[in-house]
Amino acid sequence: MSVRLGVIGGGVMGEALLSRLIAQQVYLPDEVIVSDPTAQRRNLLAQQYGVGVTADNQTVASEASVLLLAIKPQVFDAVASALHQRNLEQVVISILAGVPLQRLETAFPEQPVIRAMPNTPATIGAGMTAITSGQHAQPEHVQIAQQIFEAVGEVVEVPESLMDAVTGLSGSGPGFVAVMVEALIDGGVVAGLPRPIATKLALQTVRGTAELLQTTHLHPAELKDRVTSPGGTTIAGIAHLEKSGFRSALIEAVRTAYRRSKELGQ
Ligand SMILES: NC(=O)c1ccc[n+]([C@@H]2O[C@H](COP(=O)([O-])OP(=O)(O)OC[C@H]3O[C@@H](n4cnc5c(N)ncnc54)[C@H](OP(=O)(O)O)[C@@H]3O)[C@@H](O)[C@H]2O)c1
Repeated sequence: MSVRLGVIGGGVMGEALLSRLIAQQVYLPDEVIVSDPTAQRRNLLAQQYGVGVTADNQTVASEASVLLLAIKPQVFDAVASALHQRNLEQVVISILAGVPLQRLETAFPEQPVIRAMPNTPATIGAGMTAITSGQHAQPEHVQIAQQIFEAVGEVVEVPESLMDAVTGLSGSGPGFVAVMVEALIDGGVVAGLPRPIATKLALQTVRGTAELLQTTHLHPAELKDRVTSPGGTTIAGIAHLEKSGFRSALIEAVRTAYRRSKELGQ
């Protein structure tokens, strides 16, 4: 095996990962090869990042010591069944939503397999990825996966039984937060702010609050208590959120997404 990292599928997530892995010098450009059916994509990846490219998935699978699957789940069976000449030393890392370890291990028998669930902010390096390992994966293989996903954000390791819950929270979460941000902006506009200013205020408020909680490790309830003065504006707003079932709507959103993920995986 001459290449350290092989990526099958040079789309949005494949590019996000390889671009940051190269920028952070986790891999050198000549240690990476990517396969993609579209010539335009291959040319872009080769020119922009200096990586090797091919239209042939087998070339990638044969040459790489770490094989990263970044194709859509719908094409997984076709892609996997067309690969031959397996290498038992090769670590297979999949980011395919809803494809369980059992299917991955059937397609790559005896190989160390890691299933990962990144989220969309990974495309700008602010992702949250959960990883879970198959029966042949050793700690050094988990470490490789950790290093790969740390290039695009934070990583947690969970048992596979929690992957649907991960999907419900960090996987679907960016959608929930986007809806909340849009509503905050509309609220600002209702209160008289021009939309571009309302947008800036809403985005920086959500980002700043998340960073504050992360940096200080304050419990969210403690932060809420600190910003609610008696008879003030924030407690008046929160009282309305409680009356409208905001908290329970979010809890149910995560639970519904979790259940849907379970259904889709069956
Ligand atoms: N984007 C996210 O935020 C996100 C988050 C979590 C998980 N994921 C997972 O990441 C995976 C990739 O998602 P994505 O958003 O990056 O999708 P994407 O942009 O469509 O990337 C998939 C790439 O694979 C290529 N491809 C199609 N058939 C192929 C084949 N037979 N062999 C090799 N490459 C092939 C596609 O080329 P064509 O376009 O020419 O078909 C495309 O460039 C999915 O499984 C998804 O579940 C994505």
